[in-house]
Amino acid sequence: MHGKPEMSVMVAGIGLRSPVIAASGTFGYGVEFEEIVSLDRIGAFVTKGLSREPMAGNASPRIIETPAGMMNAVGLQNIGVQAFVAEKLPKLRQMAGAVVIANVFGFEIEDYVAVIRELNDAEGVAMYELNASCPNTAHGGMVFGSDPSLLYDLVKRCRATADRAGRPLMVKLSPNVTSIARMARVAQEAGAQAISLVNTFLALAIDIETRKPRIANVTGGLSGPAIRPIAVRMVHEAAQAVTIPVVGMGGIVRAEDAVEFLLAGATAVEVGTASFADPRAVENIANGLRKWCAEHEVAHVSELTGAMGR
Ligand SMILES: Cc1cc2nc3c(=O)[nH]c(=O)nc-3n(C[C@H](O)[C@H](O)[C@H](O)COP(=O)(O)O)c2cc1C
Repeated sequence: MHGKPEMSVMVAGIGLRSPVIAASGTFGYGVEFEEIVSLDRIGAFVTKGLSREPMAGNASPRIIETPAGMMNAVGLQNIGVQAFVAEKLPKLRQMAGAVVIANVFGFEIEDYVAVIRELNDAEGVAMYELNASCPNTAHGGMVFGSDPSLLYDLVKRCRATADRAGRPLMVKLSPNVTSIARMARVAQEAGAQAISLVNTFLALAIDIETRKPRIANVTGGLSGPAIRPIAVRMVHEAAQAVTIPVVGMGGIVRAEDAVEFLLAGATAVEVGTASFADPRAVENIANGLRKWCAEHEVAHVSELTGAMGR
């Protein structure tokens, strides 16, 4: 093909130089990857879930390997939003080209609002990703993402707060629901400017010798290639239900996997578990996607969005 394919996309009014984004909880606070990944080569990265107060997370073991994937119940271990703003954001601002998406978590609506308020006052955050889908805490997270009226109230309040800083709100949906289309629609009606999916699938693994759960929290969230076809199906259903951009994820390890999500209706993709096996995975997939587009005569990557034929 003549010329380079155009890889930039727009998500909720934010221009990304590539549709490939590092997913929350698998890329730390970004600064850890400074020496490994060129943050100006990837679309953006999403921080670990940030909460109002620091969180120690769940007891160990909290990560195990499973066939074609992993299960985690990290439980939102993080330094808290204030420490993030004071200690990590200044470093991120110095890293040229880094587009920072802050993943926001809370137990109550007020917690989410407080985290966004704190971030609103700080420079260097492009967008918020509302974690309405963590399966690893007893309150908050998935509880919001699986109840339509709670999700509506959460998104509405958070959108109003994010608006004060003029920052867009992307809502990360839980796959642990009967109708993803319904939850996607509710998020859009409440003011989400983009949605991202999927978070992990609630799962259980048992050690048959000890007869105990392999994860101390008993259940954990399943991610990695094992979930990919389910995630692609859900992204497709969600994309059919809304008009806002959809960011797809779940088991992407190669550029070709990213193409599948785009064809299903995603405008951009996130890469999570793959970064544990190869810390350069996000950058490699971004580069691979450009190469794939060139080889397949795709002039603009956005041509792929929703282009699945029947
Ligand atoms: C260890 C680990 C920690 C995670 N932490 C978060 C988190 O803090 N917030 C969040 O929204 N998603 C979190 N996720 C979910 C991922 O961002 C992603 O939605 C999910 O793993 C599916 O993508 P993947 O198969 O590419 O990993 C976490 C996933 C893993 C494996």
